[in-house]
Amino acid sequence: MAISFDASKKIFKLDTSDTTYALAVHEAGYLFHLYYGPYLPDNNLLPMLFRGGFASFHPNYPNYVNTPYSPDITPSEYSCNGTGDFRISALQIRNVNGDISTDIRYVSHRILTEKPALCGLPSLRSEAGDTETLEITARDHTTGAVVKLYYTVYLQLPVMTRSVVVENDSQYPMDLERVYSTCLELPGMDYDMVHLYGQWFKERTVTERPLAHGMQSIQSKRGSSSHNHNPFVALKQHGTTEENGPVYGINLIYSGNFAIDIEVDARNTARVLAGINPTDFNWHLEPGESFTSPEAVMVFTDKGVGEMSRIFHRTYMKHLIKSPWRDVERPVLINSWEAAYFDFDDDKLVAFAHEAAKMGVDMLVMDDGWFGVRNLDNCSLGDWYVNEKKLKGGLSKLIERVNAEGLKFGIWYEPEMISPDSDLYRAHPDWCLHVKGRENSPARLQYVLDMSREDVRDNIFNQMSAVLANNKIDYVKWDFNRNLTEAGSALLPANRQKEIMHRFVLGTYDLMNRFVTAFPHILFENCSGGGGRFDPGMLYYSPQIWCSDNTDAIERLTIQFGSSMCYPVSTFGAHVAARPRTPLSTRANVAMCGTFGYELDPRKLTEDEKEQVRAQIADYRKYNKLIREGDLYRLIAPTEDHFRCAWQFVSPDKQEALVTSVIMRRPETAYFMLKLRGLDPNKMYTDTATGEVYSGALLMYAGINLTEQIYDDGESIVKYFKAE
Ligand code: GLA
Repeated sequence: MAISFDASKKIFKLDTSDTTYALAVHEAGYLFHLYYGPYLPDNNLLPMLFRGGFASFHPNYPNYVNTPYSPDITPSEYSCNGTGDFRISALQIRNVNGDISTDIRYVSHRILTEKPALCGLPSLRSEAGDTETLEITARDHTTGAVVKLYYTVYLQLPVMTRSVVVENDSQYPMDLERVYSTCLELPGMDYDMVHLYGQWFKERTVTERPLAHGMQSIQSKRGSSSHNHNPFVALKQHGTTEENGPVYGINLIYSGNFAIDIEVDARNTARVLAGINPTDFNWHLEPGESFTSPEAVMVFTDKGVGEMSRIFHRTYMKHLIKSPWRDVERPVLINSWEAAYFDFDDDKLVAFAHEAAKMGVDMLVMDDGWFGVRNLDNCSLGDWYVNEKKLKGGLSKLIERVNAEGLKFGIWYEPEMISPDSDLYRAHPDWCLHVKGRENSPARLQYVLDMSREDVRDNIFNQMSAVLANNKIDYVKWDFNRNLTEAGSALLPANRQKEIMHRFVLGTYDLMNRFVTAFPHILFENCSGGGGRFDPGMLYYSPQIWCSDNTDAIERLTIQFGSSMCYPVSTFGAHVAARPRTPLSTRANVAMCGTFGYELDPRKLTEDEKEQVRAQIADYRKYNKLIREGDLYRLIAPTEDHFRCAWQFVSPDKQEALVTSVIMRRPETAYFMLKLRGLDPNKMYTDTATGEVYSGALLMYAGINLTEQIYDDGESIVKYFKAE
């Protein structure tokens, strides 16, 4: 059984295939965290609780003779504010009298074999029998808040999820000021905090720093998960490497303002919280109402950062990415953006399709600029009707012509945005987020729609549906090109205005859900000025996300490596662009570590380049299953060695391996041995290019010598090994 309760010791144990998570109920009902780490067979965990006496001016509870307890040093399962635990709190409720002391005590629990859905929020999916969920009900007896803590364990994977529901079971309103999704207590501080920072054009760059006493935190206040920080943190024990050692990974399934906060105290213990950012947040609960937190995904492994990533990848491929997309080859597409920007018409697009079809491309995507009167980025967002001056004969006619060339058709939208210069804005100036009396900040000359409003969502749904339902559209690129400012809603009362950041995300999820339900055949690709909303919340609805507007193959290495910390490569929108700093072959080899496509004017390719593209697309089809379903090994990170970068996919049965290596900057004295990973040492593998046969042992322990095979900066090599 994955979840068990020892009634005599009052200990819950949550076991996955390789891990144990444990918590205890104190005699007064407090919930204490006991352990998270490698699997433990026994229940003798209570001694872990005691962290010594002499906390600073701490409240004492001398009456609890069996379990002496100071809230300020005891590991809490879900820390509360204002009642003696002075470290960061996961929960803070302001009651009707205005005070913010919060204290929850165990009431009851249930073990569920079906994973409950999260109201209005994306979460990991489950299939019959592959999960168990513990629901612990606790209560704050003073405020009447009922707090339900949810823990789901996956039976086949070392992964668990946590989320929280707070219900107002009192006669008075209350305000939730902090409701984190998870609280994890580590009994040490000998960890490095790995996280992904960046900006537009430089998303998800891996960085790490040792935990230090006091607070460390990453967060977004931008209304989206953001280019700047990703809702992901790994805590690796000092000395942990890519393939060895203990590491915890936490990723929040959320696309809005988030915070991952870590506080280290004087006893060198670390408390980790992940959830909605309490800054700019408040949720008002009337009697009988409830609030649901986003879901946090937690992974532990003692096999290094690479294995942590592979566990996330397997989990997301199986339980996050929507069927059928997780199991199928994605179309090779050609996107009009970098090829034409706003300068296109029907004939130009058909000409793109004509050339692309000859090279084996599957789909043409018409990017920004097809609607309203949009010829620049200064107007028409919100006016989702076809610009027939550009697309003469209308959209159906264009799609017919593209289809006649043998290509499917995709289209671009930015549903959550509105241009001040648009019919929609002129008709409904109060439909954008705004604050009465304050001028709206323009960003990319556009405002943000108030997605918390049902009438706004209905309007956008109806406009877009009219296009999607009446035309043969196979793909939608859903963009989001600015962050939220002056975030007020015309409909919310004053005491609910601080709900808008979260309501905005809920509204977006609702709209996305309506689309994926109404148009299940459409492949949705998410985008936010590249990867400004690359998070598991978005992946729940759209199986792929445009990784970055930066399509330079060398810079993409860092972005794609960082993204692979927790996201599977099948979710990376990656295209070959007209950026000649690297050879066409390298641009393709890098884009193949993702969903493959082109972002260039195919008419401008030489005959030789067209031939290369044909071969690249054939390779994509040959290797796609291995790349999509295989295990990723990051052999050499671009940030680790400024000379080269390398990665490898191994099929689950270890029969095939695909190795790619890119030379970023080649020293004259280069010597390049590359050791592979994840193979069967006893299998014999053929290098399919040379016919040479090597044991898995040789490839992993001695390595392949690439010294003579790569000469210049920007060159790359791909090797495919097949076991006999
Ligand atoms: C964003 C996207 C680009 C493109 C433009 C269109 O920047 O990331 O790929 O779609 O918008 O305006």
